[in-house]
Amino acid sequence: MHKTMDAIEAIFTRKSIPKLKPDPVPREVIERLLEAAVQAPNHYKVRPWRFIVLTGAARERLGEIFADILREKFPDLPESAYEKERRKPLRAPVLIVAAAALPGSPKEILTENICATAAAVQNLLLAAHALGLAAKWRTGTPASEPRVKEFLGLSPEQPLISFIYLGYPAFEPAPPNRPSHHDRVTWMT
Ligand SMILES: Cc1cc2nc3c(=O)[nH]c(=O)nc-3n(C[C@H](O)[C@H](O)[C@H](O)COP(=O)(O)O)c2cc1C
Repeated sequence: MHKTMDAIEAIFTRKSIPKLKPDPVPREVIERLLEAAVQAPNHYKVRPWRFIVLTGAARERLGEIFADILREKFPDLPESAYEKERRKPLRAPVLIVAAAALPGSPKEILTENICATAAAVQNLLLAAHALGLAAKWRTGTPASEPRVKEFLGLSPEQPLISFIYLGYPAFEPAPPNRPSHHDRVTWMT
């Protein structure tokens, strides 16, 4: 059993890990991460996040759509380019798509729904890290493709916030070495 870590340690040691083992992630673990995701703050308690969990052949179907879109946009690429595109969702045993719901009442603001969904994604990334899993937040051009959204059961206007690539780490990354906050902060007194 992996020892979990406290919040500060998780925040400071989390890194995106693009290379994952093909090993499946147990359903209970995925559910635990989703439960962590929905602890995020959200305005008016609208719970504006929507998640779609893709495993197995669903990832292959998504990859076919990625490749079809690339072929339609750029029909003259070498076949290897389409093949590479088709294989993209297979880089992880689990893909969790996070999308924001469109405002369902006049008081809701789309930006706030997007913010809450992004906060949920970060919760999920941190929980995954704390439980010994690896993840990477990706978007790319497929995130704004209507056909991708349609396949996922989203409306064309719905913001797709993240493809979370999730699995077990294929390697242990070096500790993060991120720039300080100093040049991004103004103190006002
Ligand atoms: C909204 C958003 C979209 C991103 N999309 C991509 C992407 O499509 N491909 C990619 O390689 N990294 C993407 N990233 C960056 C990675 O998730 C990651 O944060 C970055 O590589 C830095 O690594 P770190 O998380 O270990 O600091 C995205 C990050 C955010 C917040």
